[in-house]
Amino acid sequence: MVSDILVASNRGPVSYALREDGALEARRGGGGLVSGLSAIGPDAGAVWVCAALGEGDREAVRRGVGETGVRMLDVDALAGEGTHADAYNGIANSVLWFVHHMLYQTPMEPVFDAAFRRRWEAYRAYNRAFAQALAAEAAPGAAVLIQDYHLTLAPGMLRALRPDLRIGHFSHTPWAPPEYFGLLPDDIARELLEGMLGADRLGFLTHRWADAFAACCARVVGGTGRTEIGVHGLGADAAFLRGRSRQEDVEERMAALREQIGGADRKTVIRVDRTELSKNIVRGLLAFRELLAARPEWRGRVVHIAFAYPSRQDLEVYRRYTAEVSRVAEEINAEYGTETWTPVLLHVKDDFARSLAAYRLADVALVNPIRDGMNLVAKEVPIVSDEGCALVLSREAGAFEELGADAVAVNPYDVTATAEALHEALSMPPADRADRTKRLAAAATALPPQRWFLDQLEALRAAPSPAA
Ligand code: G6P
Repeated sequence: MVSDILVASNRGPVSYALREDGALEARRGGGGLVSGLSAIGPDAGAVWVCAALGEGDREAVRRGVGETGVRMLDVDALAGEGTHADAYNGIANSVLWFVHHMLYQTPMEPVFDAAFRRRWEAYRAYNRAFAQALAAEAAPGAAVLIQDYHLTLAPGMLRALRPDLRIGHFSHTPWAPPEYFGLLPDDIARELLEGMLGADRLGFLTHRWADAFAACCARVVGGTGRTEIGVHGLGADAAFLRGRSRQEDVEERMAALREQIGGADRKTVIRVDRTELSKNIVRGLLAFRELLAARPEWRGRVVHIAFAYPSRQDLEVYRRYTAEVSRVAEEINAEYGTETWTPVLLHVKDDFARSLAAYRLADVALVNPIRDGMNLVAKEVPIVSDEGCALVLSREAGAFEELGADAVAVNPYDVTATAEALHEALSMPPADRADRTKRLAAAATALPPQRWFLDQLEALRAAPSPAA
């Protein structure tokens, strides 16, 4: 099958679980890209190339099971056992994610040695597998939209195979400033940037990340050449969220949460995240503890609902972080909890309906990442909120560019200031809170996923091609 529009990403819109009886069960994923792609409709014949991520996915590829418009790649079958793990865990998540989120903070890390070089070789092979699959699936002159830090080399590789294509790449993460990007070995930094500059057009979520990318290019490869750079600040899907959050399962979960909170006049501070180092969950808990210590009037009167869903558990540092989140939550409950009041309600089982329930009833949402490409939670809460919700927002989240004016801003490292921000947010007069929530919701929906996707597609088709 050849297509005029292709999307490529590590995680695709569908995944398969292998059931005990040997049957494959398909699960559809959500997110901005999935809803964005829906704008062109099923008849557009778009093809989404993604990696097989688990045993279920690999079995689906082996059996030839798949959905129309989705082409799953078993990277290990194509490039050797262990290639996907080395590229995804060993490079994309352990190195590139760390660089762009500026997560390396010890004198011991990072170390770029021979083992790193071997993993980089796997990262190349993984990118090559994508480039080859895209080259095979693309109609003459097709538009190809490649996603994220997993696939930084694919644009250049694809350009070499198919100079006729319009190639775009979009970064869903922040981009590191040149001083920090400079941690990478010089040849790797150059290869990565040159790979991306193989695209006709590169997209970023904010001006800050786009400028950082251009600054890295200026330093390492002398500029961005003929590649166009655009900024597309993905917004939330308001119509979907409003409808979904009024369904019965969400109402049920609201009732259950109210029961756990206890006391109708108790306030709630919520957070909803993957258990992700960059989300800064531990400092969020420490700030809540400091609020209870410094402002005893809140004891018994506020509950922190923290949803921290499992993520990247193949990496030890994520497992340790997950354990630390639980430990600190338990510590706070042991220190301050009473017979009738549990200060922190930590839930780790992913449940979208319950997340929406928390959005609806929250008084305050805490979004305090160390760094974040955008952060859609900050955009979803004001849309769904029943009675208005104050937003405590890290100035290091991409969403801050659009939402900062109506949020309570925090430096994510400053626990004391975050505790004060929680106090300010909890004390916000209801009318002020409701007004701000309305403005936040308007800003959050300025660029809905469908528009976000179509804008990029149009811009890519109009971009001057470096191959021309
Ligand atoms: C970030 C990345 C996405 C990725 C997501 C989940 O938002 O930008 O590309 O899909 O994290 O990460 P995971 O490693 O679970 O796919």
